Amino acid sequence: MRIQVRTGRLDQTRDGVPVFAAFEGEQTLQRLIPASSSRDQALAKLAASAGFRGTANETLLVPRGAQWVLVIGLGKEKDLSLERIRQFAGTAARAARSRGFRTIVLPVLYERMLGSAGAVAQALAEGALLGLYRYDRLREVPKHERRQRLDAITVLAGKSRDAADARKGVEKGEAIAEAVRLARDLINGPSNLVTPTALANEARRIAARFRLKCSVTPFAQLKRRGFGGIVGVAQGSQHPAQFIVLEYAPRPRPSNRTRRGKRAIPTFVFCGKGITFDSGGISLKPAEKMEQMKYDMSGAAAVLGALQAAAALSMPHRIVGIIAATENLPSGTAQKPGDVLKTLSGKTVEVINTDAEGRLVLADCLHYAKRYKPACVVDLATLTGACVTALGHEAIGLFTKSERLASRLNEAGKATYERVWRLPLWDEYAPLIKSDIADLKNAGSRDAGATTAAKFLEEFAQGLPWAHLDIAGTAWAEQDKPYTPKGAVGVGVRLLVRLMEQWK
Ligand code: BES
Ligand code: MN
Ligand code: ZN
Repeated sequence: MRIQVRTGRLDQTRDGVPVFAAFEGEQTLQRLIPASSSRDQALAKLAASAGFRGTANETLLVPRGAQWVLVIGLGKEKDLSLERIRQFAGTAARAARSRGFRTIVLPVLYERMLGSAGAVAQALAEGALLGLYRYDRLREVPKHERRQRLDAITVLAGKSRDAADARKGVEKGEAIAEAVRLARDLINGPSNLVTPTALANEARRIAARFRLKCSVTPFAQLKRRGFGGIVGVAQGSQHPAQFIVLEYAPRPRPSNRTRRGKRAIPTFVFCGKGITFDSGGISLKPAEKMEQMKYDMSGAAAVLGALQAAAALSMPHRIVGIIAATENLPSGTAQKPGDVLKTLSGKTVEVINTDAEGRLVLADCLHYAKRYKPACVVDLATLTGACVTALGHEAIGLFTKSERLASRLNEAGKATYERVWRLPLWDEYAPLIKSDIADLKNAGSRDAGATTAAKFLEEFAQGLPWAHLDIAGTAWAEQDKPYTPKGAVGVGVRLLVRLMEQWK
């Protein structure tokens, strides 16, 4: 869907359902935002008397002459933020669609307070496009749902001098939303369709579309080249593992050439866990909710989305995505508890539990990352149930020894609302993954499960400015939210884009 941008007054729109906002609170509820004619301001009073309170994402549909008007609660005025704007747009778009409207008009609100018209317009576009997302590829959509189709959104800038900025913001929001939707499609896709090979093909498709470099190393070669961590996990599956490297570099700009010497553009490496299905392997998981383990490639999906977004936005950095894609299945050829692997780094690992497979494949990815001399390496993985226990579904687990990376990821998390929460990576935890017969073991006791997984990864990231993001609790939503329908969240894409944007 295309989003139009134009200037004008919301109370004078004739090209779709206008969406007004209202703050919570006795005084603030008395007025609609943006300010409009006294006739419309009377609407606010009407809304209040109908029991509308303006709490965040509260929705009210009111008639106005021959037209309908949507009013969405923005919550308390003091809590206004870009996140509220994203939710406002997502709520409005979904409410309009479910009521059978075809077009809506979303106003750019509080652009001075929230930064710029571009930033607000971007939030509106992201919120609406992500809120409208549905995974409908594998079912026949019932007639009544098919009739609920929003086909046009207009973003309305109040002042004409803001229109160009709003246009840019909308375009950015569209590119980012498309990348998040790509990640969601891959994650929602079942493992019989989204195989390791399918992930590799997706990377190739992105590469062809945006002229990126893509190399895929198939299973047979991984074996020969010593990718022991990936091979150990992959050897139980009929689908060959794929080691995917997707590389974006900015087009040379004139300004780069006129500078003396080489202009140092930083390299970001993003590593993604791409377990297309995690049964646990020989250390088989219980059946309950095992079907959800198709989302164990959410890290990989986020990396693909981030690369697509970076290319679409022509970001000025070099970005390398490294993905280990494989299934984790039990079979006669599967690895067994007690087996010892030799990883790409040369370090040996005793496999205590075949269900701790993510760290095995990431070990090879992180070691491989060293060849790019990166300014930073961030890995994303649905790595541990322990992280879900600790943080639930609101925060990404962050592990790093770099204060700089921690504060940058923290800022990016706040801005995108893909919030991170730091957990310890202290060396006192290292003994928990010491093995009697190998350099390391892949699982400790239950204690500090998210940290021991991170300590394991750290062994393979030595010398790198590295951070690990455990997205086990945030990659999948059990409940609808304003711009995150239940199912795949696509978490990490917006966070990584923001991390790159603020990098100096
Ligand atoms: N993919 C799982 C982690 C996971 C659990 C993600 C729940 C999302 C929801 C991972 O491979 C795993 O099985 N981890 C084990 C590690 C343990 C065996 C040391 C876990 O967390 O139980
Ligand atoms: Mn597992
Ligand atoms: Zn897993």
